[in-house]
Amino acid sequence: MNYQGVIFDLDGVICSTDQYHYQAWKALADRLGIYFDPVINNRLRGVSRMESLDIVLEKSSRSYTRAEKEALATEKNDTYRQLLQQMSPADLSGDVAETLETLKSRGIRIAIGSSSKNASVILERIGLSGAFDAVVDGNSISRSKPDPEVFLKAAQALGLPPEKCLVVEDAHAGVAAALAGGFACAGIGDAAGNPDVTYRLTALSDLLKL
Ligand code: BG6
Ligand code: MG
Repeated sequence: MNYQGVIFDLDGVICSTDQYHYQAWKALADRLGIYFDPVINNRLRGVSRMESLDIVLEKSSRSYTRAEKEALATEKNDTYRQLLQQMSPADLSGDVAETLETLKSRGIRIAIGSSSKNASVILERIGLSGAFDAVVDGNSISRSKPDPEVFLKAAQALGLPPEKCLVVEDAHAGVAAALAGGFACAGIGDAAGNPDVTYRLTALSDLLKL
């Protein structure tokens, strides 16, 4: 591989939290009587919590004040955190674990670049606390993807310029963020179909063949 660092998105790349985000947003939408489905849920991928809430509320017949929105986001997050309690190291796939280990054994530095403010909880649940050389998440950024801030901070934390790092993303907002920051980008899942990605992965271990 031509890169000295790899920056991984967390949700949808290292582990799958999609179903929990979906269930938590669905519970909130149902309580408020707002229509919500998996297609709308797809638009929330890579997007911050408050921006996600705005998308969920698009189908609402009334508007909400800033304070009400903050309470709704907290309600969703409380449900989500409850659901995350089910996660364990069994939710870390062998493919992901081996890919990370092999990259490290080749001297490649690895980081997390996630929009989530729950990244450290999730990493702990799946047994990856301390596995990354740097973790930059929703708590350390002020602009969410598609802004490149999260990846630029992760590269800086690795001590590498963007052109020496590869970003791995499953969300279109994340691909846009990576390219805006001057990074090459490998798309997996939904983002494997993005025409702008530098590489397409069917499994994370495809990285080892680059
Ligand atoms: C991203 C997810 O990683 O984090 C989004 O793809 C989510 O769906 C965002 O909205 C923010 O997550 P959190 O955990 O801070 O609510
Ligand atoms: Mg993602």
